[in-house]
Amino acid sequence: MNRRTQVGIIGAGPAGLLLSLLLARERIDSLVLESRSRDEIEATIRAGVLEQGTVDLMTEMGLAERLQREGAVHHGIELRFDREGHRIPLSELTNGRAITLYPQHEVIKDLIAARLNQGGHILFNVKDVYLSDVTSHQPRLQFIHEHEQMELQCDFIAGCDGFHGVSRVSIPEAIQTVFSRFYPFGWLGILMQAPPSAEELIYAYSNRGFALVSTRSPELQRMYIQCDPQEDIANWSDAMILEELQLRLATTDNWQLRMGPIIQKSILAMRSFVTEPMQYGRLFLAGDAAHIVPPTGAKGLNLAVADVRHLAHALALFYRENRTDLLEAYSTTCLRRVWRAEHFSWWMTSMLHRFPDDDPFQQRMQRAQLDYTVRSRAAAMSLAENYVGLPFDW
Ligand code: FAD
Ligand code: DHB
Repeated sequence: MNRRTQVGIIGAGPAGLLLSLLLARERIDSLVLESRSRDEIEATIRAGVLEQGTVDLMTEMGLAERLQREGAVHHGIELRFDREGHRIPLSELTNGRAITLYPQHEVIKDLIAARLNQGGHILFNVKDVYLSDVTSHQPRLQFIHEHEQMELQCDFIAGCDGFHGVSRVSIPEAIQTVFSRFYPFGWLGILMQAPPSAEELIYAYSNRGFALVSTRSPELQRMYIQCDPQEDIANWSDAMILEELQLRLATTDNWQLRMGPIIQKSILAMRSFVTEPMQYGRLFLAGDAAHIVPPTGAKGLNLAVADVRHLAHALALFYRENRTDLLEAYSTTCLRRVWRAEHFSWWMTSMLHRFPDDDPFQQRMQRAQLDYTVRSRAAAMSLAENYVGLPFDW
């Protein structure tokens, strides 16, 4: 069966879904192809921190009703080291900007509902997506949906299919430059049924490694500890995880972790990755399909949002005024922000984790950096500006 659309979007993550909504606002037709089921993508636990710009964009688009009601606005974060906490007053340092804690899978639910409500099309459970004629003016997507072989003719293809998708690998290797770094540690993440232990997020550096206290709701808490990336999660009993969290977060004033049943746990590896350029012919990559950051700076989802905002704007000007300059500049425009976020995430990661091969010199360097960040207003302001997110047109 053959279909036609203006923009064929691969992937119903934050990038693909938001792009379809941004395009609809410009009266540009799109179709989203997603390899997983709706239930699965609505239940996958991932990010939690939304930058001010992400929240503003969703609000402006009428997508933030539940986010405003259920999300928690945070005006600061804590950096904890040497058993002492130090607050970074994000809002005070950034003219009132803040972050909002609202889980990624709730964002996904809101975006899917909004797109389907406006009569938009998302095909779930598609298989074997294949891109062809990407350098022509009529790129095509072939795929299987409900046992039927389908073909979608498009003007443009948006590769929003995450790091393991097909879009990036459809670009010839010869025209791609890849930059990447693996970190010799991972994060063990848990969801715990307990009240919050703190009003704001805590990023802790300790001799035993990094720990992060985050939250999902008044009843459900999200925490992470640095671990060996090769480790089998089965080797970590709930008691071991809780003990490790307590040890890494201990303070001189006897701060207490509030504990409860752990209902989910998993280990994720950490890497930095960028491919350049983010465009090949009429294929545009957005979000994790083009770049990955280690999670320490909470930037991944927010970068995906910034990419598709640029892409939707460039496509709007193409359809409205036949302009191609913004499409041609897409990669360069996005990469400025991408590399800023890559640097920030690498910097936060390097400052806060124990490296397996570190020595007393490196540990002193980390402490000196942490000390400077909490004691110098200029340094704290730089962290805050990056953490709440630079303006989209930065
Ligand atoms: P994805 O969310 O990966 O979506 C891609 C979609 O494409 C998926 O639904 C996938 O099923 C689909 N797909 C893949 N291949 C195909 C195919 N061949 N055909 C069709 N569909 C396909 N970011 C933050 O900003 N803040 C945080 O606090 C944060 N914390 C994180 C914590 C964890 C534990 C993890 C794992 C990530 C975190 N991130 C965070 C990163 C964030 O989750 C990602 O950057 C974000 O999901 C990227 O969105 P995306 O739409 O580009 O890709
Ligand atoms: C969360 C994830 C992050 O990567 C981060 O830096 C802060 C919070 C979270 O999942 O809540």
